[in-house]
Amino acid sequence: MIETQHWWPVAQVSAAVSAPFPVRLLDHDLVLWRDGQGRLAAAHDRCPHRGARLSLGRVCDGQLECPYHGWRFDADGPCRHVPALPDFVPPASQRLRTVGVREAHGLIWVCVDGDSGDLPAFSTESDSRLRKLNCGPYDVATSAPRIVENFLDMTHFAFVHEGWLGERGHAAHHDHPVERTPSGLIATGCQAWQPQSNRLSSGGAMVDYTYEVTGPFSAVLTKRPDDPALGDYHEAIGLFICPLTPETSRVWFRLAMADFASSDEALRAFQHTIFTQDQPVLESQHPKCLPLDPRAEQHTTADRVSLAYRRFLRDSGITFGVIA
Ligand code: FES
Repeated sequence: MIETQHWWPVAQVSAAVSAPFPVRLLDHDLVLWRDGQGRLAAAHDRCPHRGARLSLGRVCDGQLECPYHGWRFDADGPCRHVPALPDFVPPASQRLRTVGVREAHGLIWVCVDGDSGDLPAFSTESDSRLRKLNCGPYDVATSAPRIVENFLDMTHFAFVHEGWLGERGHAAHHDHPVERTPSGLIATGCQAWQPQSNRLSSGGAMVDYTYEVTGPFSAVLTKRPDDPALGDYHEAIGLFICPLTPETSRVWFRLAMADFASSDEALRAFQHTIFTQDQPVLESQHPKCLPLDPRAEQHTTADRVSLAYRRFLRDSGITFGVIA
């Protein structure tokens, strides 16, 4: 499965502190922990001795200790201590199945097969003019690609987000270019009239969006309201999804905002309102996995971004959360 060679977010950085922390990814159970130097480690959540869940154990002197017979493992995977045989030196073959792990965008990322390649880009992360914070996680009862497709879709604003990101009197779609990129696609010049385009807006404005798909289940939008009162105000939102199972997902948003005056809670509240408007509709879609055959659902020219995303998934060989 090609998905195991990609990097996926599995937890907030603050989640893995001193105790082993269980996570689920692509139908795999994994465990995170930090060694004595605070270095993050990750492995399959199964002891190689008798198959117990390692996440039920604890971290002792920076080593992960199994809850069943107390075998201890280093962050790189080798077993270092078997309490029933204190003088025994475990062979190199007695080790954990470790996985790649990194920290970025306030999240912990895992690659099940390997430790190379790039994480999904979020270029505004290094923009000091924008303040960064995370929103989530949201556990959503649908596939990851259904959530990405919703994020890329402006034509639902007038209905799902009426009074916030759209109004039914302004539902007409404005055509715009969509191009493939090595990591997915980019759609520029996407225009929408919005009554409350962001937390600071005091009235309606046309808003210019750019959407980028930055990986199979990640995307970034950049918004620039055409509102003189907001000056050069712009913001970016990264969507990062952990595919738990084919039909369940954990979602984080990385907010990059020009608003340094508001509290974290106020900034999160706007995004929370928007996504909790999306969530019941997303969870109502059937089938939950995204059908890639163009004949499986009906489309118009207003669905060009979603069709381009489906083609990208098909060409990338993605099989998790989709119907080929
Ligand atoms: Fe883990 Fe025995 S099952 S030490």
